[in-house]
Amino acid sequence: MRILGIETSCDETAVAVVEDGQKLLAWAMASSVAMHEKTKGIIPEQAAREQVKAILPTIDEALNQLEENTGSRGFDVLAVTHGPGLIGSLLIGVETAKALSWVWRKPLVPVNHLIGHVYANFLETPQLPQFPFIALIVSGGHTDLILMEDHGKWRFLGGTRDDAAGEAFDKVARLLGLGFPGGPAIQQAASQLQPFPNSPNSSYSPNFPNLPRPMLHSGDYDFSFSGLKTAMADQIQQFQQGLNPVSGFNPEKRLSEKGIVMFAIAFQEAVVEILVKKTLEAAAASNAKAILLSGGVAANARLRERLQHEAQVRVFVPQVRFCTDNGAMVAAAAHFNYNPVNWKTVNANPGLALA
Ligand code: KG4
Ligand code: ZN
Repeated sequence: MRILGIETSCDETAVAVVEDGQKLLAWAMASSVAMHEKTKGIIPEQAAREQVKAILPTIDEALNQLEENTGSRGFDVLAVTHGPGLIGSLLIGVETAKALSWVWRKPLVPVNHLIGHVYANFLETPQLPQFPFIALIVSGGHTDLILMEDHGKWRFLGGTRDDAAGEAFDKVARLLGLGFPGGPAIQQAASQLQPFPNSPNSSYSPNFPNLPRPMLHSGDYDFSFSGLKTAMADQIQQFQQGLNPVSGFNPEKRLSEKGIVMFAIAFQEAVVEILVKKTLEAAAASNAKAILLSGGVAANARLRERLQHEAQVRVFVPQVRFCTDNGAMVAAAAHFNYNPVNWKTVNANPGLALA
């Protein structure tokens, strides 16, 4: 079965065709991320306008690729992200998919964006994950732990009480004067010094920023990242005032290169430690056979490395290109949870929840 997946929940307009939930046949993407670089954050109205312009050319490009790769533009099913996400952006993908389902007389499968992220792990992999597994979904809008017992059967274990992990990366990158999106920028800065220190108090440097690990021992599967961001802001301010030799006193009150690198490492280590510990606890408590990392933050090399190193069960990580929003994950999720509905019943739902 060939499924054309459409993803427009945020700033990516992404379309892909996937065969049998695993094999990528076409992949097209337009992104307004460069536009949001200037504002160091996404302006929903602007993202939606760009979605409108990009949706048909992106679908057309995916079909051109499909023809190039298979000799035909034929496919069987349409799938679309119907939530959660930005309402203006979601509407573009959903209404386009409904129109195409109607005129092309193709079945339409609505997909939860977060479940789509989980199925990025099923793409182009020689071995499929076994149930039950724990999925850590870490993106710009979400930090969720779910236990999946079968396709379509999941239990919400916990999530963030304030900022999502990706959102924290983006906000902290702004504090450090780094680019948007913040995750890749922080990872890049943090990779300037090797090896990673194991703890904020390691012998790496006596002046290494000492950041808290909010809710590390809370005994549940919830997260909180806003306090971490505030602690960063406080400590950066101290460095800027020349109170700590890491930054070196700087009359322009800007962090030195070394200071930025130190803070990037300290922040990344704190977030990764919290995510890894809670995920391992959830896996142990539920006798999970595997852990699936997913969402944009799953692209983070340090998170992938630590989880793979410390887990007792098999860890699946998607290819980096499948971590951030894309159409292939939507098509894969629709294949394994095949539940076509009449297009008239599909609606964009910005608050679509997992719980
Ligand atoms: O899943 P995604 O593409 O969009 C949402 O559904 O939100 O995730 C985007 C988020 C951004 O916050 C971005 O900073 C983060 O994923 N991200 C990363 C990395 N690459 C993307 N965070 C940490 N390390 C990365 N390498
Ligand atoms: Zn996403």
